[in-house]
Amino acid sequence: MSATPSTADPFTLELQHIRGLIEANQLPQAAQALNAAQKKAPKDARLPLLGMRMAERVGNLENATQAARRALALAPDWQVAQIELALLLARQKQGDEAMRLAMQALANAPRDAQVMVGAINVALFSERHDQTLAWAEEGVRRFPDNAGIRLFLARFLVAQDRPADAVGHYEFILERLPHHEETLQGLLSCALKMRDQPRARTYAERLLALKPFDENARYWHAVVHDQTPATQPAQVVTGIFDAFAQNFDVHLVRGLQYRVPERVAQILLALHPDRRFNLLDLGCGTGLVAVYLGRIEGHIIGVDLSEKMIEQAARHQLYSRFHRVNVLDALRETPADHYEAITCTDVLVYVGELAPVIPNALRILKPGGHFIFSCEAAGEDEADLVLREASNRYAHKASAVERQCREAGFDAVTIEHLPTLRMEGGQPLPGFLVTARKPLAA
Ligand SMILES: C[S@@+](CC[C@H](N)C(=O)[O-])C[C@H]1O[C@@H](n2cnc3c(N)ncnc32)[C@H](O)[C@@H]1O
Repeated sequence: MSATPSTADPFTLELQHIRGLIEANQLPQAAQALNAAQKKAPKDARLPLLGMRMAERVGNLENATQAARRALALAPDWQVAQIELALLLARQKQGDEAMRLAMQALANAPRDAQVMVGAINVALFSERHDQTLAWAEEGVRRFPDNAGIRLFLARFLVAQDRPADAVGHYEFILERLPHHEETLQGLLSCALKMRDQPRARTYAERLLALKPFDENARYWHAVVHDQTPATQPAQVVTGIFDAFAQNFDVHLVRGLQYRVPERVAQILLALHPDRRFNLLDLGCGTGLVAVYLGRIEGHIIGVDLSEKMIEQAARHQLYSRFHRVNVLDALRETPADHYEAITCTDVLVYVGELAPVIPNALRILKPGGHFIFSCEAAGEDEADLVLREASNRYAHKASAVERQCREAGFDAVTIEHLPTLRMEGGQPLPGFLVTARKPLAA
């Protein structure tokens, strides 16, 4: 069919040039060249696909979809147009049509690895998890040396809590790419999940040898050697929460009976019944504290490392602004006497050491302001700070936290013990909620 791509004839080279312009964001030049090309070959299906890429560049999904439909109308059996339209539809939650097109593309081009990758992504964006897994497994069977498909499958299996099934795929990649960082990291996390300490140590050593100054490699090296690093690196936090953001509320609130933000909102409203206060929400996540609080007569500022969690929080339109930074940096860089309240719910379990947290929270609160935060409870017979092996989260000892708050200068410190901070592995996980008040000016 004339509408499908063929050899690198002069016209094809012209189209490649236009694609280069689009990728370089030189959109006016690309549009001009595309118009000229369209006059030469109005029935060439590659042209509307270039139009689709331009529309995608400027974030116009509707125009991109229309352009992909035009390409498909010109070349109904062309797998590239089928998969491109399917990907766009899947991103717009039109999963049924997207999946139908992906299946047609796979039937048309069973030996095309790019189509396979596209189909797997269509299933993923359409949230068809069984089909995602089935196509990823099929992709590995059809294209055993394709590291991208194998890596995707390994990651997907880990996300589904099947580390033992992921290991073989990671090892296959590592044999061919012995310095592949993500693969070493994947094998390390599988070993940790499978409680295989010797293997975990081997992979941590290899990771550190590869990147001796990397914060992430140093963190995991310390963890597998039973040390307690002061904090979790940003990469670890974003790795968890970017993947988790879409399901966070349903999973935690409904599934794991997580009620801390609701309780914190009650405390805040009892302290400020007129709703007149400014709040810094550290590790705001999907914005549950603001959701339970509702609209206030002041600003709510959200801080979080995870872009995806912030995207979810932004949907509520309750925050005045967000900062995508580490809470430790936010605390250090915020000027003194700024907020009436600071919240930090289920975040210090990732932050760890409180020495840089509590004094800075005191400093940036206005006199009489409150710092309200939750912790997982370490036993009074344990160390002040414990990194739990199973969950890889920090637990804090309540008496030590209370002491740190008083030593920093908070004058009233209330600790509310929560027998169920949330559920974990079917068991209640104990924690506590701290409300610490900055003294009124002397
Ligand atoms: C379990 S969620 C809790 C979210 C929210 N506070 C709540 O209670 O629903 C933890 C959040 O803290 C963020 N986080 C963890 N460590 C962080 C750090 N050092 N700096 C900024 N955000 C962090 C994560 O990205 C995640 O969104």
